[in-house]
Amino acid sequence: MKKLCKCLWILLGFLSIQETANGADENAALWRNTNQSSDWDSSWISSYAVDGLRNRCAHTLTETNPWWRVDLLNEYQVNKVAITNRHHLTAYQRINGAVIRVGNFPDDIYSNTVCAVISTIPSGATSNFSCGGIEGRYVIVHISGNLKTLTLCEVEVYGKVMGNWASRGTVIQSSTSGDRFAEKAIDGNRGLQQLYTGCSSTLNQTNPWWRLDLRDVYRVSRVVITNRKDCCAEQMNGVEIHIGNSLKNNGSNNPICAVIPAIPAGESYSYSCGGMEGRYVNLIIPGDMKTLTLCEVEVFGEGPVLKRSIVKMLFNSRADLTDQPMRENILIQFGSVLADKGFTNVTLSWIQTPEQVIQKGKAPKSCIKVP
Ligand SMILES: *[C@@H]1O[C@H](CO)[C@@H](O)[C@H](O)[C@H]1NC(C)=O
Ligand SMILES: *[C@@H]1O[C@H](CO)[C@@H](O)[C@H](O)[C@H]1NC(C)=O
Ligand SMILES: *[C@@H]1O[C@H](CO)[C@@H](O)[C@H](O)[C@H]1NC(C)=O
Ligand SMILES: *[C@@H]1O[C@H](CO)[C@@H](O)[C@H](O)[C@H]1NC(C)=O
Repeated sequence: MKKLCKCLWILLGFLSIQETANGADENAALWRNTNQSSDWDSSWISSYAVDGLRNRCAHTLTETNPWWRVDLLNEYQVNKVAITNRHHLTAYQRINGAVIRVGNFPDDIYSNTVCAVISTIPSGATSNFSCGGIEGRYVIVHISGNLKTLTLCEVEVYGKVMGNWASRGTVIQSSTSGDRFAEKAIDGNRGLQQLYTGCSSTLNQTNPWWRLDLRDVYRVSRVVITNRKDCCAEQMNGVEIHIGNSLKNNGSNNPICAVIPAIPAGESYSYSCGGMEGRYVNLIIPGDMKTLTLCEVEVFGEGPVLKRSIVKMLFNSRADLTDQPMRENILIQFGSVLADKGFTNVTLSWIQTPEQVIQKGKAPKSCIKVP
């Protein structure tokens, strides 16, 4: 004889959670700052090559060595540059021989690495050029020679962002001492630690914490922390660096990348996190009467990470989960729970229909026995 729970459905289901990373396949050049050697006139300005419209173009004067440049703001590993040429019976040929470069030298074109030399692009067409991961913050297109004209109707740049992402995130801390706001730890300035005014600081409290929200899941290779220089460097001793996706316990439930033994006054120390994945980077000092002061926090690694997880769940439900509309309803509810926790780019689906599971052991009071 088995005890079958008639009032409660205990079901086993497999949920697929697909996180569509924001930005993995985005055009890094879109609406970024641009410049070019000269403007043909005010209806052919450099920003028209990154406006998302392929029918408005950037266009220089006819001159010696014309160039066009976009600033991606962060350093990227550029995989591909797509260029849309002008739609014109003859002028489309002016692009022939243009060079695409990627690098970190906005003012010295020739110091940047050549990604491709354009032999030709048909009138009005878009061609892809593979850059094989050349690293740089700037993408430059130029033509060498006299009496050249550079016209670009759209330049799209695809790749992975590198460098410090901390500055792209948002921050919060457990309390704030004076004007030492949490943001001062990601202001991009390590040097200000001498003055102290460029640092974040909590009050003297129990378990003070500081948290960076990267807004997407990243694979973190290292975290660099800069300590204050004016005094009390020892306050940094025992700071835990946590990386993960949970906000429970102010983030201290997430796995630990490192516990800082000490950082000398005014120095920057790097902690290797071996590719730990997470959206939040939490710094916490456990204990009473502690103050968390940070002059700079930098986060390096890869991302955003496209994540797919399979979760096996045991539901304790009065509803019949073998019923399709009911299952869809559960996904919607689950989705809104995730959204409350900040996971909005998530696709949920059942990869297996839930089955009823017979509960072992003691049946709940309300259950009846069936032969
Ligand atoms: C854009 O380029 C022109 C020509 O080289 C230069 O005079 C100007 O200062 C540049 N503007 C910016 C914002 O870099
Ligand atoms: C260029 O790459 C895009 C995807 O990023 C693709 O859709 C398009 O077909 C490619 N164009 C050519 C001409 O290969
Ligand atoms: C989270 O931090 C705040 C501010 O320090 C504190 O009041 C609260 O008790 C903490 N919550 C947990 C669960 O530790
Ligand atoms: C916190 O306050 C206590 C009591 O005033 C003091 O002894 C301690 O040194 C302070 N700690 C820090 C880190 O400021």
